[in-house]
Amino acid sequence: MVSRRAVSALVFTSAALLGFASHSALAQGAGELVVYCSVQEEWCRPMVQGFERATGVKVSMTRKSSGETYAQIKAEAANPRGDIWWGGTGDPHLQAAEENLTEVYKSAKLPELLPSAFKQAVQSQFKTVGIYAGALGFSFNKEQLAKKKLPEPKCWADLAKPEYKDEIQVADPNSSGTAYTMLATFVQLWGEDKAFAFMKAMHKNVNQYTKSGAAPSRAAATGETLIGITFLHDAVQQAVIGAPVQIVAPCEGTGFEVGSMSIIKGAKNLENARKWYDWALTPEAQKIAIAAKSYQVPSNKNSEVPAESPKLGEIKLIDYDFAKYGSSAERSRLLKKWDAEVRNAPRN
Ligand code: G6P
Repeated sequence: MVSRRAVSALVFTSAALLGFASHSALAQGAGELVVYCSVQEEWCRPMVQGFERATGVKVSMTRKSSGETYAQIKAEAANPRGDIWWGGTGDPHLQAAEENLTEVYKSAKLPELLPSAFKQAVQSQFKTVGIYAGALGFSFNKEQLAKKKLPEPKCWADLAKPEYKDEIQVADPNSSGTAYTMLATFVQLWGEDKAFAFMKAMHKNVNQYTKSGAAPSRAAATGETLIGITFLHDAVQQAVIGAPVQIVAPCEGTGFEVGSMSIIKGAKNLENARKWYDWALTPEAQKIAIAAKSYQVPSNKNSEVPAESPKLGEIKLIDYDFAKYGSSAERSRLLKKWDAEVRNAPRN
């Protein structure tokens, strides 16, 4: 005799099993998506979870810096492994668009975007689009500065002064979109000759060229370096979690990024890539940044701007020429020149 309790347990179990089966069938039906993510890992992960929850699509994600991801997509062009490239500075996304490594897509969400984000789409003939914006600058560790009795750096020009020898960390512009934004910013501020002379002088003060653009802001937070060049929002993240850092919008003015997103040409999961694209432009998806302590300015006009976000309207921004500095010829040429003239320049 089977007891009533056993029967109901059985019914419950099979209902649960059925539920499970239909859920996984749904997940299977929704398919997969391969995301190349170029923001910080802490923001990539909740984005993936949010999308999986919203759509049932199974996502696999890899985090790499902007320049590295561009190079990977180019290397994989004959047999693309990624579906969507989400995040990272706009210039390498524009270069990928020009080199036909990414797909045209006109999302229905485009009219909801801020002009700078929309312009990114128009400029690339709809092969990329802006998802956030942020200004470049640097931060320094206040405790270290006091301990070393050094003056507060306020301008880009200060960073080439001999008193900051070995005190500056910045990423390598080949791998990092942040550092490429810096390089292109100097060229636009001062002209190419002066910009390269400055970077050669600053090279003497650089203790490490990191792979990722946000790493120097973390190093400044822990005191591993005195000064870290990064996007201001990356330095704000460190200040919010209590690091003794001072954030500087340089006195000469500075460049900015339009963080971007592109669908990879030949994407195996094209429909799901489009789904991610539309979803990532919604205020609901853009809000995930706030919980992840990522304080970029989101691109949807209706998205909540985090209270902690640097106020771009109050910073002296240059009129960054994305068409020029995101072009394949200019970006490749400047990086080659940086390798030849700055990276290998003497440090003494
Ligand atoms: C950080 C910033 C992003 C930026 C990205 C570029 O994650 O928060 O705003 O787009 O760096 O990364 P990369 O490593 O290419 O400089």
